[in-house]
Amino acid sequence: MIFQKEVGESLTYKFAQAAADMRANGREIISLGLGEPDFKTPQYVLDATSEAMNTGFTHYSATQGLPEFRELIAGDMNTRFGAEYKAADIVVTPGIKPAVYFALCALLEPGDEVVLFSPYYVSYPAMVKLAEPQAIIVNVALDRSFRLDPDALRKAVNPRTKCILFNNPNNPTGKVFTKEEIDLLVSLALENDAWIISDEVYEKLLYTGGTQIGLASYPDIRHRLIVTNGFSKSHAMTGWRLGYAIGAHDAIVKINKLQQHINTNTCTFVQKGACSIYTHKPDHIAPYVAELERRIDFFHKELNDLPYMTAVKPEAGFFCFADISATGKDSNSFCADLLHATGIASTPGIAFGPEWDSYVRFSFAVPMATLERAAGLLKAYNPKAEACRIDSDV
Ligand SMILES: Cc1ncc(COP(=O)(O)O)c(C=O)c1O
Repeated sequence: MIFQKEVGESLTYKFAQAAADMRANGREIISLGLGEPDFKTPQYVLDATSEAMNTGFTHYSATQGLPEFRELIAGDMNTRFGAEYKAADIVVTPGIKPAVYFALCALLEPGDEVVLFSPYYVSYPAMVKLAEPQAIIVNVALDRSFRLDPDALRKAVNPRTKCILFNNPNNPTGKVFTKEEIDLLVSLALENDAWIISDEVYEKLLYTGGTQIGLASYPDIRHRLIVTNGFSKSHAMTGWRLGYAIGAHDAIVKINKLQQHINTNTCTFVQKGACSIYTHKPDHIAPYVAELERRIDFFHKELNDLPYMTAVKPEAGFFCFADISATGKDSNSFCADLLHATGIASTPGIAFGPEWDSYVRFSFAVPMATLERAAGLLKAYNPKAEACRIDSDV
């Protein structure tokens, strides 16, 4: 395999590792790098999964996933979007990442163009190049308010576009795209017979007044749509490795072939336990989102009060993407200096696209007391003081 430059070591992990090494050496570290919810997987999921383990769900499942789990996923999508998905239109995968990657593998051929919106989720370029090394990435940069520029989008989507990889709400900006933006996206995809892969992992983590428009609510695009989603963020299940792809049947058949040869199936008792997600009221979500919103209200204000940082307020998720151009530093140097001077781990903007080297991403999926401590350290920090680097390929 040729590891093209897009398949470099992730800067997110590089910084997380540097922070872990410093912590192992006794240094106090405040981890605002990786995006991992700090609350517990709901008890009913734990209970249902133990029961599944103890009642024999310890063997292979159907490669597409347990039929009862897929029925529940399809039912939920159909209720919410007025769609007619069947269990056969779903593959359950070990996390959302394999769902996105398999979807790309199913669609791409040499020379196909793939539209990405920058800043993008760190792994998207690598996934595209691993799925099809000769695919061409067409990067559409959002503006500094993280809005889609309609002209840039019109320029990017053309008859060579095989697929648009969309993430709404967006990591790292916390942006929720508007109906106008999505209308344009869908109409350009239809005009050019392009597919949309819509990664909607943060759809449930919306702040007050926010509405997220799921792509499945557009009936005309369903024959060219794959939605990827899962429970890592909404149910604090990052370690369980559970996600799914749902969409046009011809693509799902190909994704299932990949699953058969690569994963066989997703952990059977995890799937069985996760059925409880659909049979219980999601009571944990409202308080969790309220807590996230309380944190971002606090942390966003603190960041904007700093002389060297400004940040657009996120509308969803648990990241804040802040502009550090006033420091005059590139994002890698800024994050390395910040880590060494204060112990705060963050992620350099360059990891999310070439246009974002004067940005840094903070996760606020940590307790309020940790954010307060981070805010105090950021206030005392002088970005002109230190210079060090943590290098990576990405
Ligand atoms: C946009 C996006 N997609 C996918 C993932 C990965 O999800 P999972 O851990 O379920 O593979 C993440 C995790 O940070 C993400 O932010």
